[in-house]
Amino acid sequence: MQGKRILLIVGGGIAAYKSCELVRLIRKAGGEVTCVLTEGGSHFVTAMTLAALSENPVHTTLWDLKNEVEMGHIQLSRQADLVVVCPATANMLAKMAAGIADDLATTLILATDKPVLAVPAMNVRMWLNAATQANVATLRSRDITVVDPDDGAMACGEYGPGRLPEPPAVLEAIQHALRGPGLLTGRHVLVTAGPTHEPIDPVRYIANRSSGLQGFAIAEAAAQAGAKVTLVAGPVDLPTPYGVTRVNVESALQMEAAVEKALPADVAVMVAAVADWRAENAGDPARKIKKDGSGQPPALKLVENPDILAGLCASPRRPALVVGFAAETHDVIANAQAKRLRKGADWIVANDVSGDVMGGTRNAVQIVTASGIEAIGQAPKAVIAQALIERIARAFD
Ligand code: CTP
Repeated sequence: MQGKRILLIVGGGIAAYKSCELVRLIRKAGGEVTCVLTEGGSHFVTAMTLAALSENPVHTTLWDLKNEVEMGHIQLSRQADLVVVCPATANMLAKMAAGIADDLATTLILATDKPVLAVPAMNVRMWLNAATQANVATLRSRDITVVDPDDGAMACGEYGPGRLPEPPAVLEAIQHALRGPGLLTGRHVLVTAGPTHEPIDPVRYIANRSSGLQGFAIAEAAAQAGAKVTLVAGPVDLPTPYGVTRVNVESALQMEAAVEKALPADVAVMVAAVADWRAENAGDPARKIKKDGSGQPPALKLVENPDILAGLCASPRRPALVVGFAAETHDVIANAQAKRLRKGADWIVANDVSGDVMGGTRNAVQIVTASGIEAIGQAPKAVIAQALIERIARAFD
């Protein structure tokens, strides 16, 4: 965000103290901040604090004639690259939705020709109130980005959605908003990632070594390219990339259902290492299998899982572009080509897992298409993800 100018409107809520940390983070990332402090906000943080952190004058009133001569509120609203309202109270959202301009902050929001990002923070009941939800829907329909608040314990002692996201998450939202339209804006990208766990009983399962890193990196790159992204994730302990809708699943059958539910999509990138088999006799899901004293282990009968990728390719709701992955230890290209035809995918990303790729941060891939092979080569998983997303965008051109 080097050189980007943020107009930060600090509203009146206890979460206003987090906007001080946000100013610091924006500056650390190379951005410039000019703060506007509302009357309510000034009860929680001081103009002095924001001025010291931003190293810029803080604006508090519409009736500051000196500023009107030197700058004017219209100019203040337009010289920024992005207007950020943080925290945005229920009252502020209501005024924004109604187009009310009765103080400096709301006047700037109405007058600006720049993108606006609102980061709400309020009591859980106020957030869930139909009036607030309707205001949020109105603002979103006008292309104002309203970040979803966090869930958790609130300063008022209640629990639920309404907390201001932590400043690093707000910074991510700001960076996302500054990117503007991307290569995949308007597209829905569906990604599967991670392993699946196939239950044997309530405490045991069949698993594999997939870390989910490559699939998560692809979901993140797609979101950064402006796509709407649904990430169907097997059990992995990875943070959800900003702007990605995550659906957590455990087993292959759950993953298959989640993929079906996420349709329609323009693109599907199936990175998950789906277990090929599940235990047929998984037994009572609430009852652990015990040793029976005979010294004989129980027989574990396996049945094949559905092939989610092949099923999607054969579906009447098939996305326009379906990309599969093929994790191979040998005959990488020949196996990938056969897999492409067998499953009906447009492309197979052939993934050489003969080294320490599973769980590692680097990957080595080649894209097998109907017309040949394109090498992306050996690179960090984030770089592979970026290259694949650019290739996908070119396919839509
Ligand atoms: N895949 C899937 N459903 C399955 C198995 C695999 O959707 N039940 C998808 C994976 O997400 C990946 C592709 O199919 O995109 C290939 O996965 P891979 O494990 O390499 O293929 P398999 O069909 O399991 O082939 P193999 O017998 O060679 O392991």
